[in-house]
Amino acid sequence: MSLTSTSASAPGKIILFGEHAVVYGHPAIAVPLAAVRTLAEARPAERGAGLVLHALDVGQRLRVTWEAEPSPWFDALIYPAQLALRALEAPIPDLTLRVRSTIPIASGLGSGAALAAAIIRALGQALGRPFPAEQLNALVYEVEKRHHGTPSGIDNTVIVYEQPVYFVRGTPPQPFAIAAPLTLLVADSGHPSPTRETVADVRKLYQAEQERIGALFEQIGRIVREARAAIESGEVGALGALMNANQAALRQLNVSSPVLERLCAAAREAGALGAKLSGGGRGGNIIALVDAKNAPDVRRALQTAGAVRIIETVVAPSTS
Ligand code: MEV
Repeated sequence: MSLTSTSASAPGKIILFGEHAVVYGHPAIAVPLAAVRTLAEARPAERGAGLVLHALDVGQRLRVTWEAEPSPWFDALIYPAQLALRALEAPIPDLTLRVRSTIPIASGLGSGAALAAAIIRALGQALGRPFPAEQLNALVYEVEKRHHGTPSGIDNTVIVYEQPVYFVRGTPPQPFAIAAPLTLLVADSGHPSPTRETVADVRKLYQAEQERIGALFEQIGRIVREARAAIESGEVGALGALMNANQAALRQLNVSSPVLERLCAAAREAGALGAKLSGGGRGGNIIALVDAKNAPDVRRALQTAGAVRIIETVVAPSTS
């Protein structure tokens, strides 16, 4: 087998509207977050060395075998490599794969999907058979299932295609136009919160109260459709109100928390057009929609309210 040195990467993501309801077939909107990324570098190793993964940020050095293990490191690092090799019908190659990431773990920014995308991409390239986007997306979705049971598929889709998506579970991602730039502050609460847990809790709540929770999902679906129309027509002010409405519905789904509420309130009081949690919730990140003149005030207010890291990102208008 001829092997090449290569590197591959994948971005983080933010969900603008529709998390959780998207698991139940309602639409959601997500955009890539290029300011944080996972990078995987593959280097051929000496004969017989096997495939060794170094996860540099977490000090893990793991040898890939065909065995399955019930451990989070297996799910995050080895399972994606196994899936890639199985899909290529390749034996375990003699390679070293060094992985590093600036995407915080369990914070709603897609760290698991980005890690899987970068590992699978790098292995395909190193073996001289790069994965087409559609196949890569399907493989990363398999990894997402291991991470949180019943993923909608939105995280792998936005991360693999690295484009804003209007997403409905089980259908191809719909591209949509962005009429005006959207400036967002992404503020980390500093409290990790695994998506697996919030998704499972929402499921329990839905099973216990199908009518009330089903109606909340419907309401979120309406908000997402209105948000798409506002993004397509450049009505940025309307989007802020829709973010606040989405956050109110997420609170009723019991996936907000005092710390997330405090950050959202601080952003709004400082002049943000709207604010909501993004991703699984309880902890992780909130997003605040700002305009150029109030961005510094909102940033300061978020810091004072306890945000441990703030990333400013602009969702740029589409060119086509
Ligand atoms: C996680 O980023 C988004 C959720 O809606 C779960 C999913 O869609 O799989 C909470």
